[in-house]
Amino acid sequence: MIFELTDEHKLMRQMVRDFSEAELAPSAAERDEQERFDRALMFNRLAELGLTGIIFPEEYGGAGADYISYAIAVEELSRVCASTGVTLSAHLSLGANPLFLFGTEEQKQCFLKPLAEGRTLGAFGLTESGAGSDAGGTKTTAVKDGDTWVLNGSKNFITNGGDAETYIVLARSDKTAEKHRGISAFIVEKNTPGFSFGKKERKMGICSSPTMELVFDSCRIPTGNLLGEEGQGFKIAMKTLDGGRIGIAAQALGIAQGAFEAATSYAKERKQFDQAIHHFQGVLFKLADMATEIEAARLLVYQAAWRAGSGLAYGQQAAMAKMFAADVAMRVTTEAVQVLGGYGYTRDFPLERMMRDAKITQIYEGTNEIHRLVIGSALMR
Ligand code: CAA
Ligand code: FAD
Repeated sequence: MIFELTDEHKLMRQMVRDFSEAELAPSAAERDEQERFDRALMFNRLAELGLTGIIFPEEYGGAGADYISYAIAVEELSRVCASTGVTLSAHLSLGANPLFLFGTEEQKQCFLKPLAEGRTLGAFGLTESGAGSDAGGTKTTAVKDGDTWVLNGSKNFITNGGDAETYIVLARSDKTAEKHRGISAFIVEKNTPGFSFGKKERKMGICSSPTMELVFDSCRIPTGNLLGEEGQGFKIAMKTLDGGRIGIAAQALGIAQGAFEAATSYAKERKQFDQAIHHFQGVLFKLADMATEIEAARLLVYQAAWRAGSGLAYGQQAAMAKMFAADVAMRVTTEAVQVLGGYGYTRDFPLERMMRDAKITQIYEGTNEIHRLVIGSALMR
């Protein structure tokens, strides 16, 4: 086994780190405070760096890199700005990847290529007010009418909602079929008549990432916008989420790394009782625990990414990586605030934002309780 990153991976890390520190860091606190999505900075610049389609082949506008490079990119963005990390993860893993995995050649040319090139932004609409963890409980309907599908219903909590141009939407296309088998996946473009946006969420964290409700009121889309086979939507969503969970695991890892670094440098500088506080074992042990947990999370995340890029089964590993890294992010950010004492609790330092941002990683792309179900049922299979 080789645990060393390749030179390409190292270059990727350096490039994204340079960008994050020079361009994302200066406005991260302000964007969070203003709940402002800065598309030019948080998406268009990612396109210029070749990140918006990083894992896709060049013929579809991608960079042809592997999943580990993608995980490193999301990790590095999130180390400084978790909102930018999730913008990329939702766009690439959830908006674009289902097109790559299940789209026809025509759909790939029409929708995937502009997404990968960063000319359009992607989003994924699965969750509804009554169907969160129970994703099979989807109530949004799709009824075939001539050469169109007519969508009615709504989706809530959609990342990149409102700003994205291309949406993968799950809807019930057969009310008579068994729960999961009556769901299909559709490609819906912004500005389609009957498609509008509802409530914009005001959130605890990732405040500069937009989260919006999608509303479908007799929204007609061409039959050619059915993604994959009719009735296969639930499985398409599940396979999409297997990959998405690597992105969120990497986001959690990046948040934890950023918090750890801030706590470590503070512990070297801050003096109490005439010495730097890292000389107190109570502080140093916290840093040692953080470093160990982050390292363990990183190995799980990269392993899941490696499996995904090697054509191996990876759903269980992605669930383990997401669940573990999310819990690590929550513990590390909470302890990092503690290391900074009262200053950690203020907005003068980024730790309180990181702690707020960490919380969502335990909730979205499947709550950590759902991940225990996914892992547990794989173990019993
Ligand atoms: N790949 C392929 N097929 C899968 C699958 C997978 N990973 N997981 C399940 N399936 C198949 C099953 O094999 C089964 O197929 P058959 O009908 O042929 O037997 C079918 O799907 C139904 O499976 P289950 O009985 O296991 O389904 P369930 O109703 O018990 O639900 C669940 C399973 C894991 C709880 C699922 O509902 C789930 O993942 N819920 C969480 C939803 C979620 O993660 N939402 C995230 C939204 S996106 C987001 O949040 C964005 C963001 O972070 C930015
Ligand atoms: P619920 O399912 O109601 O869960 C409530 C509690 O019950 C949780 O603690 C849960 O773990 C627990 N629970 C539920 N069922 C079980 C069970 N069987 N066993 C044990 N415990 C259980 N969705 C999208 O489709 N696209 C997006 O882009 C997207 N982005 C999001 C961005 C943000 C900021 C947020 C907050 C959410 C986003 N979501 C998105 C939705 C997200 O995936 C859901 O919030 C999540 O899956 C949980 O669903 P829920 O909120 O309805 O909670």
